[in-house]
Amino acid sequence: MDELNQDTIAKLNKTAKEAVKYAQAKYSHFKVGAALLADSGEIFPGTNVESSSYSLTLCAERVALVKALSEGTTRFKAISIFAEKLDFCPPCGACRQLLYDYAPDIDVYLTNGSEYKKYSLKELLPHAFDESQLKNI
Ligand code: THU
Repeated sequence: MDELNQDTIAKLNKTAKEAVKYAQAKYSHFKVGAALLADSGEIFPGTNVESSSYSLTLCAERVALVKALSEGTTRFKAISIFAEKLDFCPPCGACRQLLYDYAPDIDVYLTNGSEYKKYSLKELLPHAFDESQLKNI
């Protein structure tokens, strides 16, 4: 993915941090915010949304992705992730997979609000399962 300029990175990280105020994390008390940057420049925030049936919990990254896709936005550049209680919160395996399915070329920014670490999604999910494995069956 092309390099984002510093203003865009700062805005994306800030949006992820601000999103955390809406996190629904009454079981784990681990609040996460995400911000997904579309090719258009639009940013889709998301938070984790937990369930009393714990396994139904949705992570912030998947909420942001599903919000965008379900509103007709399908091309993305980057996602930023912020967690209230952890400096650099890596996306879980399920989120890596769903992001890969829809946005394999994005960069992933982990921020603590003042600094960030940048990875490519392909670096975080090497040898990914994807639609190519479903062909010719
Ligand atoms: N969580 C996220 O929202 N994103 C991550 O990258 C890691 C984990 C959420 C899920 C659950 O609500 C809480 O954090 C603790 O696992």
